[in-house]
Amino acid sequence: MSEHYSDFLVVGSGIAGLSFALKAASLGKVLIITKSNEDESNTKYAQGGVAVVIDESDSFANHIKDTHTAGDGLCDPAVVQHVIEEGPERIAELIAYGTSFDKEASGGYDLAKEGGHSAHPILHYKDITGYEIERALLERVHAHPNITILTHYFAVDLITQHHVGKHVDKRSSDIECYGIYALNTATGLVEKFLSKSTLMATGGAGHVYSSTTNPTIATGDGIAMVYRAKGKVRNMEFIQFHPTALFNPAVYPAFLISEAVRGFGGILRRADGTSFMEDYDERGSLAPRDIVARAIDVEMKKSGLEYVYLDITHRNREDILAHFPNIYEQCLKIGVDMCTDFIPVSPAAHYLCGGILVDKHGATSIKQLYACGECSSTGLHGANRLASNSLLEAAVYAHRIFKDVESKFHNLEYRRDIPAWDDTNTVLSNEDILVTHNLRETQKLMSDYVGIVRSDFRLDRAMRRLGLLHDETESFYKNTRLSVKLCELRNVIQVAYLVVKSAMARKESRGLHYTTDYPNHADHLQDTIY
Ligand code: FAD
Ligand code: SIN
Repeated sequence: MSEHYSDFLVVGSGIAGLSFALKAASLGKVLIITKSNEDESNTKYAQGGVAVVIDESDSFANHIKDTHTAGDGLCDPAVVQHVIEEGPERIAELIAYGTSFDKEASGGYDLAKEGGHSAHPILHYKDITGYEIERALLERVHAHPNITILTHYFAVDLITQHHVGKHVDKRSSDIECYGIYALNTATGLVEKFLSKSTLMATGGAGHVYSSTTNPTIATGDGIAMVYRAKGKVRNMEFIQFHPTALFNPAVYPAFLISEAVRGFGGILRRADGTSFMEDYDERGSLAPRDIVARAIDVEMKKSGLEYVYLDITHRNREDILAHFPNIYEQCLKIGVDMCTDFIPVSPAAHYLCGGILVDKHGATSIKQLYACGECSSTGLHGANRLASNSLLEAAVYAHRIFKDVESKFHNLEYRRDIPAWDDTNTVLSNEDILVTHNLRETQKLMSDYVGIVRSDFRLDRAMRRLGLLHDETESFYKNTRLSVKLCELRNVIQVAYLVVKSAMARKESRGLHYTTDYPNHADHLQDTIY
C-alpha cells in the first residue's frame, strides 16, 4: 500500500511517541512509524533515571529552583512549574503501565542524585532506566487494538499546502500539516501517510557531532523536516555535552558513564590522581553539566590527554555492582574494573536543549502538527538541561498534547488531494561513499569548531565549510533516488547549520553556549528563534 490513513500519525517510538500513542488510542486509530527497530531510540539508552518529586523530604520548590539554576536564566517559569508539578501524576502512569523502579529494603523508592540537583529526586531502574521504560511502553502498545507500528519507515518530509501547489514561506501563519512522506526502506519507495493530526517525536541530534552518547538514529530528522516546511525552531545553540562518556576511540557512539556515578560519590581526577572540580565550582564533581564539561575541556587541553578519570573505587564492590551492573560490564570490556580502577572519561554530545518551538500544549507553529520529547523546545531546559529532566518532560507533554488534541480532533478531516512522491529524473546512486565522507566531514567540523568552547572565528569557519557541504549534498539529493543515509546527511547538515546560525546570533555566554568573544551574560534574556 502506498497511501495510509490514520487519525493520529506518530513519528518515532521513544518515550514521547509511545506515551502519546497510548493516550490518543482512546480517541481513534494511531499509526506509529519509526525508522529502525521499534525500540531503537535515545530512550532505550537512558541510564540515570527520571527526576520527579515523590519523596516527602523533597519539594517542588527545590526541583523548580534547580531547573532554573541549571537553565542559566533562560527557562520559561510557567513551563518549569507545570512540568514539575504534573510530573508525579505522569510517572505514576508509567508505573501503572508496568515500569519498575528500584526500591530500598524498607519498601520506599531508591532515589538517586545527579549533577545540579540539591536533593535526591531521581527514580531509576538499576543503570538501565530507559530500557525498562521502553520495554513497558512497547508491551502496552502491542496490546492496544487501536495502535499499529510500522518499523523501518523513514519520515522524509512533512506534507503541507506546498505539496498542493500553494506557496508557503517562513512568514506564512497558516501552514497546515496533512501528514508525512516516508521511505519504506524494504522497497526503497516513498509512501504517503495522511492524518488528522501528526506528532513529531523523532528525538535528538547527537550525530551532528563526531563524538556522541546517542544511538545512530539521532540525526535531528524532525527538526530538519519542520524547518524545511517553514516551521519555527528555537535555541539550537544549546547542545549539551555530557561530561563523562567512556573514553574508547574504538567505539562509536560512545558509551555513557551515568552522572549517577558521580551522584554516588564519583570524583573527577587528573592523570596524577588529584581531583580538580573544586577548582572550578563549589559543587565539585556534581556541578551542572555545562560547568563540569567545560572544566574537563580545560583540563584535557592543559594535560594534552584526551580524557580525565572518574574514580568510584572508594565505594564497596557490592554496592557498585548493585547500582551500576551495566556500566560495570561495559567498562570491564575494555579492561577497566571500576571497583578498583579509575574510569577514563571525556565529554560527548548528549542532548539537544533547543528544537521545534512548541507552545504549552505541545503545538508547533504549523497547524495539526505537534512535537514532543527531545526534538521539541518547550522552554523547560533554558540554556542547559538539568539531569534527568528529559524523560519527565516527554511524559508530561505527551499528556498535554493528548488533552489539546482531544478537544480538536473531531473537527479535523483528511486532505485527500495529495500527490504521490515525485522522483522523476532521479537515478540510483553508485557513489554512496560520498555521503559517508560528507557526514564525517560535517561531524568533524562541528566537533572542532562548534563544541564546548566557541568563538566568532571558529563559528565563521564552520559556517563556510557547512555551506559547501550543503550545496554538494543538495545537488546530490535532487538527482539521486532516496536512501536513509542520504536523507540523514541532509538533515544533519541542516541541523548543524541551525546550531551554527543560532550560536553566531548569541552574543554572550550562557549555559551550554560558551564563547571566548563574549565570555559574560548579556544584560537581557533572549531566545534564538528561526
Ligand atoms: P527518542 O527516544 O530518541 O525516540 C526517537 C524516535 O524517533 C526513535 O524511535 C527513532 O528511531 C525515531 N525517528 C527519528 N527520526 C525518524 C525518522 N526520520 N523517521 C521515522 N522515525 C524516526 N534523559 C533523562 O531524563 N534521564 C536519563 O537518565 C537519561 N539518560 C540518557 C542516556 C543516554 C545514553 C542518552 C543518549 C540520553 C539520555 N537521556 C536521559 C535523554 C533521554 O533519553 C532522551 O532525551 C529521551 O529519551 C528522548 O525521547 P524521545 O521520545 O523524544 O526520543
Ligand atoms: C545520565 O545518566 O548521566 C544521563 C542523565 C540525563 O541525561 O539526564
